[in-house]
Amino acid sequence: MEKVAVYPGSFDPITYGHLDLIERGLKIFDSIVIAVAANPGKKPLFSFEERLEMINASIDGHPLQNRIRVGSFQGLLVEYVRSLPANAILRGLRAISDFEYEFQMALMNRKLSTEIETLFLMTGMRWIYISSRIIKEVVMSGGCVTGLVAPAVEKKLQEKLGWKNGTLI
Ligand code: PNS
Repeated sequence: MEKVAVYPGSFDPITYGHLDLIERGLKIFDSIVIAVAANPGKKPLFSFEERLEMINASIDGHPLQNRIRVGSFQGLLVEYVRSLPANAILRGLRAISDFEYEFQMALMNRKLSTEIETLFLMTGMRWIYISSRIIKEVVMSGGCVTGLVAPAVEKKLQEKLGWKNGTLI
């Protein structure tokens, strides 16, 4: 049976930290479904369509692209996982600060569905300090995020956050 994991998130926007986690996950699972939360708790900077577009641009041409799918869900994550069907939820852990929120979510998901397991993988050291939030903050203040997100994502961030001709206006 194919082993499928769902990698859920806001992806506002997707970063190379997310891609690193997907690559690690593909050492364990046959395929991974990147599941974009249509209406995440947080108010996203990018629309649902923009977030999907940036994910597709980031995985385009990736050597493991044929094992990565992109999906979306509304409502409960466990319902989406069941509907695919998939075997597990994959999440990344960067630091202790992530732990409390992740622990709470994993336990709630287990309460909602005992047959779905959550698997945590440590983010690669190279990406340990990045998050979608910090990436947005840097671009908003005129900083460079080259090499931390795909070029298409960097361009979209600059457009969204008021850059013109390579500088913040
Ligand atoms: O990238 P994020 O914002 O940390 O992702 C959080 C997300 C979207 C995975 C989480 O908020 C979620 O699963 N939302 C769907 C609603 C749900 O199932 N809630 C119950 C588990 S807490």
